[in-house]
Amino acid sequence: MPHPYVLLSAAVSLDGYLDDTGPDRLLLSSPADFDRVDEVRASVDAILIGAGTIRADNPRLLVNSPERRAARIAAGKPEYPLKVTVSGSGDLDPGANFWHTGGDKLVLTTDKGAERVRQLGLAADVFALGPELDWRRLLEHLHSVRGVDRLMVEGGGTIHTQLLQQGLADELQLVLSPLFVGTPDAPRLFGPGTYQSGRLRLLETRPVEDVVLMRYEPTAPGTGDLPSAADHHWLALACDLAGDCPPSETAFSVGAVVVAEDGTELARGHSREAGDPVVHAEEAALAKLDAADPRLVTATVYTSLEPCTHRASRPKPCARLILDAGVRRVVTAWREPDTFVTAADGSGALAAQGVSVVVLPEYEDRAKAPNRHLQG
Ligand SMILES: NC(=O)c1ccc[n+]([C@@H]2O[C@H](COP(=O)([O-])OP(=O)(O)OC[C@H]3O[C@@H](n4cnc5c(N)ncnc54)[C@H](OP(=O)(O)O)[C@@H]3O)[C@@H](O)[C@H]2O)c1
Ligand SMILES: [Zn+2]
Repeated sequence: MPHPYVLLSAAVSLDGYLDDTGPDRLLLSSPADFDRVDEVRASVDAILIGAGTIRADNPRLLVNSPERRAARIAAGKPEYPLKVTVSGSGDLDPGANFWHTGGDKLVLTTDKGAERVRQLGLAADVFALGPELDWRRLLEHLHSVRGVDRLMVEGGGTIHTQLLQQGLADELQLVLSPLFVGTPDAPRLFGPGTYQSGRLRLLETRPVEDVVLMRYEPTAPGTGDLPSAADHHWLALACDLAGDCPPSETAFSVGAVVVAEDGTELARGHSREAGDPVVHAEEAALAKLDAADPRLVTATVYTSLEPCTHRASRPKPCARLILDAGVRRVVTAWREPDTFVTAADGSGALAAQGVSVVVLPEYEDRAKAPNRHLQG
């Protein structure tokens, strides 16, 4: 199920804290950075915060600039993004600014929390996600029911930590503030646990007065059948590589990337690469790796078109090459049509051997783009 693009936004002290322990909110950003945050807010469909941040900071979460609000209206969007909060307990203060400012409000909670919230009579929609709060279900709900394509998450730490640990964040916008908090029981940005983020890719650094904005993208593939946000980035790259193939009237243009569990790119390839008129994308990528590379067993192969199971040009089809390489996970955009082979089922053949095959159909159009001339 498609998710929104999830953008985490936070400001942090040099010693890694989100706040101090005083009663007032600690101002970590600079005035120009608050304006940058305002611009990001104006660009999203919804802003999400945890119930802990409502209790601690009592934020309004507005788009402050009248020009940005006018531009949203001119673009056919609501004046303010949807405001979303997450609470397990349903213990929310009806007097908090969150309920009385800005756009529509939504509480995402558990079955038990929903009973409590409904008694409060808040001017907000309430949706129960089940006995426990499941982040994938939450994101699916925001996308499919609320039409949220871009979600900005403004904390606090427990929310950011869970989204990064579960591989659900597309981007982290982190502002480093030139001060120390120094109080051990102040809230930290990130808590302990296993992060499914890999080594983050640095997208941008930008000084904003005395703070520094760093934009990062997680890189780690998902696990088994569960996609991560980074799976989308890698599959998009595979689709882009398909565009580099020399054109052909008799074969598909396909791109492939092999990525290690920790998000390291191991190899990439595309059809008819380097003057070989019959090489396939997955074959070209795997051929660049040592067959004994221990990272292959936990690697993911991203391929714009599902791996082939029949081919005349070489003894082994790509599904076989993937199995022989020991790879246990494949992410693809497009199931093979009957253009050259009838009833091809590379995904089924791999799944029958215990390989997890994830199909992300939202990339199908991108995978097909360099193959339009083959589809009558
Ligand atoms: N510097 C910054 O950029 C920034 C940004 C935001 C916040 N902050 C700071 O962060 C602190 C608050 O952070 P926080 O980590 O305590 O709170 P938080 O992340 O805002 O909210 C945590 C709350 O969200 C709900 N929740 C989260 N995950 C859940 C799950 N899996 N299941 C059920 N409920 C879940 C729970 O609500 P219930 O308790 O209702 O069950 C939980 O107590 C404040 O000090 C604030 O100033 C700083
Ligand atoms: Zn092939």
